[in-house]
Amino acid sequence: MERKEKYNVAIAGATGAVGQEMMQILEERKFPVGKLILLASERSQGKKYSFCGRELSVSVLGENSFRGIDIALFSAGSERSRKYAVCAVASGAVVVDNSSAFRMDPEIPLVVPEINPSAATLHTKKGIVANPNCTTAVALMALKPIYDISRIKRVVATSFQAVSGAGAGGIAELERQVRSWSESRELPRETNTFPHQIAFNVIPHIDSFTQNGYTKEEMKLHNETRKILGDDSILLTATTVRVPVFRSHCISLNLETERKVTVEEARDAIRDFPGVSLVDDPENSDYPMPVESSGKNNCFVGRIREDYTVKKGLSLWVSGDQLKKGAALNTVQIAELLVRKNV
Ligand code: A2P
Repeated sequence: MERKEKYNVAIAGATGAVGQEMMQILEERKFPVGKLILLASERSQGKKYSFCGRELSVSVLGENSFRGIDIALFSAGSERSRKYAVCAVASGAVVVDNSSAFRMDPEIPLVVPEINPSAATLHTKKGIVANPNCTTAVALMALKPIYDISRIKRVVATSFQAVSGAGAGGIAELERQVRSWSESRELPRETNTFPHQIAFNVIPHIDSFTQNGYTKEEMKLHNETRKILGDDSILLTATTVRVPVFRSHCISLNLETERKVTVEEARDAIRDFPGVSLVDDPENSDYPMPVESSGKNNCFVGRIREDYTVKKGLSLWVSGDQLKKGAALNTVQIAELLVRKNV
């Protein structure tokens, strides 16, 4: 990408939960945006949004959407990424893709800027950089500071994932059900986004099941963690669960390290790591929760304790706004990295 004062940016999926967050973050972080193009489906054609005091209207995503675009941020689902990311690259744009379409492609970097920034610039042969799964990104923000003290051998992860992780449709579904309940009406029977009623329920099922009994979401955590840490020997077993929370994913992490890591060492490492805040004062009922982490850029880590069942183990808890660090913020941070490194 040619160095410029301002970059023409396109957001594919601009009307969605992550796309909207991308617009806000570009503005907040004063990303050097020249022209901004908002793209979505035909349903949203002509919808108006304001960006930095300008009124912009949504166009339909298509093969010719990317003329003159320097950076294309994709958050319109894997199918659209597979179809249109190549068109954006052919038009001369660098793509930062928030879907799962390219994450495990060995020629495409998968990046969390605080963790493996050099990967973004090492091999952008295909003109695409992938953004990790939202739960993986939040979990890794807690794991990496520990990993830097001692290699982690095995992780048992249990996630508590907000409905906005399933997009605008997930938010609308929980709202509909809670509204019906609060108005003493029967809860709507049909569900569009989740396999069961989500209000007043928890659902241990995110994405589809694979042959080994795990869901795709659970296997993404395992595979993407290995790729981002560059460690094919780390083992991670996950159970991913949808909970009736609007925003912010939480993950319980139990890990075994190569050498013993004390609680104090872990706390110091978390405190020092960029993008992470330590909230760990259980005596005063102070620990990370979605009501605190929602809308924040940092991921919050607490409940750090030694696992008394093994010689070298820790348990901890992380809460992070998955629309931000798990998606839009991380995507914009990658774009910032590419601009800084002149990729
Ligand atoms: P639209 O709002 O027009 O449906 P979310 O993850 O919050 O559901 O958002 C998905 C995003 O992807 C939305 O911006 C949505 O646009 C967009 N999208 C979904 N299907 C298509 C499609 N076939 N073509 C272009 N954009 C799409």
